[in-house]
Amino acid sequence: MTKRLLRALSGEAVWPPPVWLMRQAGRYLPEYRAVRAQAGDFISLCTTPPLAAEVTLQPLRRYGMDAAILFSDILMLPWALGQGLRFSEGEGPVLPPIRTAEGLKALDRNRLPDAIAPILETVRRVRAEVGDATLIGFAGAPFTVACYMVEGHGAKEFAAVRTLAYRDPELFGALIDLLTETTITYLAAQIEAGAETVMLFDSWAGVLPPSLFRAYVIAPAIRITAELRLRYPHVPVIGFPRMGGLLIGEYATQTGVQGLGLDTTVDPDLAAALVPLHVALQGNLDPLALDAGGKPMLDGAHTILNAMRGRPFIFNLGHGIIPSTSPEHVAELIRTVHAA
Ligand code: CP3
Repeated sequence: MTKRLLRALSGEAVWPPPVWLMRQAGRYLPEYRAVRAQAGDFISLCTTPPLAAEVTLQPLRRYGMDAAILFSDILMLPWALGQGLRFSEGEGPVLPPIRTAEGLKALDRNRLPDAIAPILETVRRVRAEVGDATLIGFAGAPFTVACYMVEGHGAKEFAAVRTLAYRDPELFGALIDLLTETTITYLAAQIEAGAETVMLFDSWAGVLPPSLFRAYVIAPAIRITAELRLRYPHVPVIGFPRMGGLLIGEYATQTGVQGLGLDTTVDPDLAAALVPLHVALQGNLDPLALDAGGKPMLDGAHTILNAMRGRPFIFNLGHGIIPSTSPEHVAELIRTVHAA
């Protein structure tokens, strides 16, 4: 029996649809906060396999979601390449920005195998425990990871990264190439360790104009998907070009992904028209509607379910759960989707 989420990714209109939620392991759960306190800092949590495996599985135990997503972070790749990284309380990630050829040269691919070893051990442990649920591995897409590497932190418009792309396309292209190649290595290693599908998070894809979107979002996703397809023909890839707007159809068609994550702004009926029927859509309830709960949450969920019935679909949010979310709201949402 094939797992429900993998059936949807193979193009089957599974109903009721499989469901999981971005950031389903996180601060809104008291059991996560307890383990997080035990680990000390966030990077230690990501690199201590028993603890990372435990928080990966917590939401499944509580809610019976159809998938577990590896507990890690997209910034563990630059960390593994030797770029300093810390997560400051309430401020998010902080890295020493890379804006010169010297900065790029200091990154060391040879650090990768040892640095990601604990993350792969987490994948193995979780895979042994997921049962009927599907284990999702992931990486940040090259452009979004480059955003943090060049800016040095989360930034409103990611102006420094776009400026670098315009003023020094050679350097920026070399950074994107390095990230594309190491992302392939990293995702292949997750698949070897037991990830059953992988998701590529391009959270800041939407800040780019079409020409740069094609060069730095679509082209790297084509390379990553093609290489993984060649090596692991049965492992589907989910792309998430967040805020990609009208370009999501082109992204879905050209990259060859089996699943496409929709952000909160996308009209589900329009997405269904733009994206070929064999690509599973995933999304896209507003995390703030989940936080509000009650009628806004249920109305939002039913609108999405009605638009997606009859096509391959995976219910999710349009972006990650926010920390103030009541765990009860999540329980009601999962029940609602499973009763569709
Ligand atoms: O449950 C899951 O979805 C799996 C784990 C996961 C995390 N981050 C854990 C995390 C995943 C898939 C991510 C992806 C990620 N990380 C993205 C892409 C998706 C998105 O949200 O757009 C991005 C842009 C990041 C970078 C990042 N990590 C930021 C900006 C922050 C700070 C903001 C915040 O919420 O604190 C993080 C930290 C982070 N990553 C936390 C978690 C659970 C919070 C850390 C804590 O416990 O203090």
